[in-house]
This record gives sequence, C-alpha cells and structure tokens, in this order.
Amino acid sequence: MSEAKRLAGEKAIDYVEDGMIVGVGTGSTVAFFIDALARIKDRIAGTVSSSEQSTQRLRAHGIEVLDLNSTGPLSLYVDGADECDGHKRLIKGGGAALTREKIIAEASKTFVCIIDPAKRVDVLGKFPLPVEVIPMARSLVAREILARTGAQPVWRDGVTTDNGNWILDVHGLAIVDPVGLERELNQIPGVVSVGLFARRPADVVIVGGEPPIVL
Ligand code: 5RP
Repeated sequence: MSEAKRLAGEKAIDYVEDGMIVGVGTGSTVAFFIDALARIKDRIAGTVSSSEQSTQRLRAHGIEVLDLNSTGPLSLYVDGADECDGHKRLIKGGGAALTREKIIAEASKTFVCIIDPAKRVDVLGKFPLPVEVIPMARSLVAREILARTGAQPVWRDGVTTDNGNWILDVHGLAIVDPVGLERELNQIPGVVSVGLFARRPADVVIVGGEPPIVL
C-alpha cells in the first residue's frame, strides 16, 4: 500500500507550478509528496503546513513554511484522506490534523487529494469520523452526537491535537447526506471541526497505482 501512496504523492507534483505557495496536508501519503516537493523546492515560493508533523518534515528538507495569515489565498493544497466517495467528498482526521487541514482546504483554489485505492468507498462512514472538540466539551459533544445520529463516539484517549484539543472518533455511521451531517455536527457547541470534507470536497483525486488514476 505504501507503494500506491508514493505513486499518488509523486503524481501530485504535476500540479505544482513555478512560484507557487503550496498548502501541504498531513499523513503518510503526504510524506511522499513532501519528499518529492523537496526535489523541486527551488521552484516554489514556500509552503503552508497543516501540522507540526508536516512542518518538521518540510523544514528538514529545507523547505520554507509560511504563516497562512501572511500568504493570502493559496492556489494549491495537497492532502491525503481516510475515505473518498464518488463525489470527491472525504473523511479526514485519522492523523488528528483535520482542523488546520480544513482551514487550508478552504483557503485554496484547488484541492488535490492523494490516496491509495483502499480509501475509495461508495458511502462514507466505515472509517470512524474524527471530530475535534474543546476538551471541556468532550462528554457533552459525545452525548449530542449519540442522540442526533445513534452512532458511537469514542474518545481518542492520549491524543492532543496541535491546537490543544481532543478527538472523538464516531463509529457506526453510514453517511448518506455528508453535507447535512457536516452542517449538523458543526453546530454542536464545543465542536471545533468535523472530519467530513463535503461542503468543500476535493477538486482532483489522485489514486496511486501504476499508472496513477486521476479523478
Ligand atoms: C490527517 C489526515 C490524513 O490525510 C489521513 O489520515 C490519511 O493519512 P495517510 O495518508 O497516512 O493514510 O487526514 O489528519
């Protein structure tokens, strides 16, 4: 599977143009993209990173990491996903970086999602849906999610996000209305962000393989 991730990550370099500031996601597939980006680092103007993990990898390659507040809108964002449906709607947040990922996706004109074939699904929700919560609201949000969806939120114990928050993973969803569920869960007080990328899906999906498939 890591070979498929590598092929997807390397294919995404096709979308990087000279002088761009590139939004960079998080995860093992993105790590291959970062390594490929390092080979053309002199052609780009810098990056905006979605996590401390990616920032470390970018800086280790000598790639500049900029503050989104100083860059303005981005042309390109490249990130992985935990699930992807036929409408390029995603579940993300397996790496607990969903909030910054969502911010950069929103700031970007083109969101290129890089996945291995196992991430493709007909209906989102087999992968437990990550929800980032303010720590004091963990139990409240869990009760609300159970009441509203009937699905089971499980605290990702021991994980604190880069923003100092906690993650609930919601098990047992079959998400037939991703935009509606994203909107509904976003309204619960204490929810920072929901790992459903449906209102703002990916624009391009690259499925790693020999050759990669571009959707
Ligand atoms: C991190 C993410 C990742 O993109 C997602 O978990 C996929 O990771 P990987 O490329 O390691 O399979 O959303 O928050």
